[in-house]
Amino acid sequence: MTHAGIQVAIDGPAGAGKSTVARELAKRLGYLYIDTGAMYRALTWLALQKGIALSDDAALARLAEAADIVLLPVPGGLTVLVDGQDVTDAIRTTEVSRHVSRVSAVAGVRVPMVRLQQKMAMRGGVVMDGRDIGTHVLPQAEVKVFLTASVEERARRRFKEMSLKGADVDLEQLRADMERRDREDMTRETAPLVQAADAVYLDTTGLAFDEVVGRLLDMVHSRAEDG
Ligand code: DC
Repeated sequence: MTHAGIQVAIDGPAGAGKSTVARELAKRLGYLYIDTGAMYRALTWLALQKGIALSDDAALARLAEAADIVLLPVPGGLTVLVDGQDVTDAIRTTEVSRHVSRVSAVAGVRVPMVRLQQKMAMRGGVVMDGRDIGTHVLPQAEVKVFLTASVEERARRRFKEMSLKGADVDLEQLRADMERRDREDMTRETAPLVQAADAVYLDTTGLAFDEVVGRLLDMVHSRAEDG
């Protein structure tokens, strides 16, 4: 069953499973999936590539205004393009993960990114995940979920995911990086990670993936029937 017009906002900390859940939910609903973290990652990759000082807010804001970031739906996910270049894999490196909180904290970076996100969601039929979707980007979204899990579980999931890709990662280091990123995302001045007052809080620690997707599908269906 598909419901035209509904916006689904999924927020939460790193490694809570937002993107896998959001992607699957979008697939089952026939909706467009929008990974906003990928946009901040793409910009961070570009800044590193161009050698822009990450302490230079004005330069980062100019870069964000000028960059052409495209999320291209492909079977099984999204291809991320920056100025025409495919950076889908390049934005997942530890280096980008380390610096993305700094870049995404710049107010002048967020303005063009949010504008683009709102434009992509305008027609509805979208599942968007990030940190400020329910609070800032789509405050009118019909379904809002705050997805989280314990930091131990989140680090374990990320470890498994990266190990499967053949990356040489250390679980303790991952956990420390994750805690630091949570802290930075939650305490920044512009659009910090907080649960929207009208979002449903869902702790996925110990829950099976299908169960999480099922709960979200129920929320969408009951909201669609209301409206
Ligand atoms: O979801 P992710 O881990 O790929 O996101 C990467 C970073 O981007 C994360 O540290 C916080 C930032 N981000 C943000 O500030 N706002 C969003 N809507 C999405 C991500």
